[in-house]
Amino acid sequence: MLRTKTCGELRKENVGEFVVLAGWVDAVRDHSGILFINLRDRYGLTQIVFSQGVGNEQLDLVRSLHPEDVVQVSGVVQLRPNGIVNKKMLTGEIEIKSEQITVLNRTQVVPFQPTSPEIPAEEMRLKYRYIDLRRPVMQNALGLRHRITKVMRDYFDELNFVEVETPVLGKSTPEGARDYLVPSRVSQGEFYALPQSPQLYKQILMIAGYDRYFQIARCFRDEDLRADRQPEFTQMDLEMSFVDMGDIIETINSLMVRLMREVLGRELQLPIPQMSYDEAMERFGHDAPDLRFGMELVDLTDIAKGVDFRVFSDAASMENGKGRVRAINVKGAAEKYSRKDIDNLNRWVIEQFGAKGVAWFKVDAEGKLVSPISKNFSEEQLHQISKRLCAEVGDFLLFSADSFGTTCKVLNGLRRRLAVELGLIDADEMNFCWIVHFPMFDWDEEEKRWVAMHHPFTAPIKSDLCFIETDPDKIRAEAYDLVLNGFEVGGGTIRIHDSRVQSQVFDLLGLSMETAKSQFGFLLEALQFGAPPHGGIALGLDRLVMLFAGLDNIRDCIAFPKTTKATDLMTGAPSKVAQKQLDELAIKIRNSELDT
Ligand code: AMO
Ligand code: AMP
Repeated sequence: MLRTKTCGELRKENVGEFVVLAGWVDAVRDHSGILFINLRDRYGLTQIVFSQGVGNEQLDLVRSLHPEDVVQVSGVVQLRPNGIVNKKMLTGEIEIKSEQITVLNRTQVVPFQPTSPEIPAEEMRLKYRYIDLRRPVMQNALGLRHRITKVMRDYFDELNFVEVETPVLGKSTPEGARDYLVPSRVSQGEFYALPQSPQLYKQILMIAGYDRYFQIARCFRDEDLRADRQPEFTQMDLEMSFVDMGDIIETINSLMVRLMREVLGRELQLPIPQMSYDEAMERFGHDAPDLRFGMELVDLTDIAKGVDFRVFSDAASMENGKGRVRAINVKGAAEKYSRKDIDNLNRWVIEQFGAKGVAWFKVDAEGKLVSPISKNFSEEQLHQISKRLCAEVGDFLLFSADSFGTTCKVLNGLRRRLAVELGLIDADEMNFCWIVHFPMFDWDEEEKRWVAMHHPFTAPIKSDLCFIETDPDKIRAEAYDLVLNGFEVGGGTIRIHDSRVQSQVFDLLGLSMETAKSQFGFLLEALQFGAPPHGGIALGLDRLVMLFAGLDNIRDCIAFPKTTKATDLMTGAPSKVAQKQLDELAIKIRNSELDT
């Protein structure tokens, strides 16, 4: 070893020991002829002091050092003189009196300094990821990620789960996003799909009798990226046989208790609360509600029917009762939002959610609702609105009048945005909940057909199956999502193991038996060879780590993430390949502009 100790471990108990450290030069300081280096590695910082006694040659060498040069230092641990103990450093009570310094490697001038308080632009960080990863917050995030997966592996091992790796070169899975395809050289014109999840393989493993499977699995989805989405991400994936929804939920609840305790040193009270999908959409307008603050959605459709304001009355009287008028009461925020701010909110909901606008009232000092639209309402109607929203002096009321779906998007969006702007969120809180009983099917307006809300192997709630001919939208699924602080951190379902129910579902989805067979015939066939009842869940590991680390972006807990354009700025992937490689795959690039 080129070192005997790390830069984070020496304390006053080590005083007098001869040690050898190696690491990166964080800073060099010259205090009237005495030179200091802060030496850094993954474990921390240690101060090295060079007094005249080491000789001019060594002093000149120290003076020539640049931040991020790699050096090895040997010397004796000594107490820092009284009064200059650095309480911010774990090693702040001691320093090394250097006897010998050796330069192991010189650096070019670095594009940014890992321990500078200024955070460089993300493009820089991604391009020079090896320097970015030297930043202590990145090292903490990756360390936390390691601990989380370690606790998971221990937990599942104790419960008799077996970790099985499933293929990366496989067949398209029905998770619903676009696939990444890999051309086959041997079977030209044919493609593997990178797995969107190990879904079909894990079901096959249940049929194969491995009643408790888990895997830390890499998944690939070619979809539009956001702060909580990456084209390749990691799932903590599991599947169990002979279980119902309650068993899966309990298994994950206990895992969360373990993770909170062993990773964050905090106690999580069980049970994690459960809310139905319908209730979540009514109260929060979203299936992954952030429950760390209130501002719940309130329905005013009945009152809106009778008002002389077309925006409200038209929505309230929409065909089939599909329109709604709903609102949130932003307590005490009336003075905080100027007319200009409100115009901005209005523009934002139009651009972001395809809404027509947002209507508003402020509650004045007399308790009256004031707004440019108040003239359209009778005193009695204003009173009813005020009462329904429990409005008090100084409150700010925001309304969306539209289809149910649009009011959900608008008010969920406003609710989350205003909570951040008004500082209503306790950043320390870890708020878990389960959303259960999702609808089985969703109507795709563009394609004019039913689509599976989760995936087509999800089991319907048995008592709802009677609606399959008449009202498919009333069928609920044995599906459950785990939500943490307003993010979906996991989702799973009990699966269909009865081939008759499976063909009813395919029928409704407009999947002919032929298409179903060509896409996942192997699973349908396997289901006929003694498939046990089974179900599972996958946790989004990156999202979980992000939230445990208190980050707001999953890129910050992934060593080598992609940009929102799905590129890797460090390696330059994706990139062009040699003509020979294309020829071997029998691939011709159509757009010749791409060649330039
Ligand atoms: P689902 O599609 O809900 O379920 O995915 C499970 C969890 O994975 C996370 N996740 C993502 N994280 C980062 N980037 C992405 N692009 C991304 N997409 C999803 C989410 C999500 O809750 N096979 C099923 C699971 C099952 O039924 O057992 C599945 O993949 O946190
Ligand atoms: P208008 O009568 O169209 O000028 O709209 C009056 C106010 O209602 C404006 O502040 C609009 O932004 C708002 N508004 C318009 N459409 C909607 C809607 N669908 N839901 C809520 N507010 C709306």
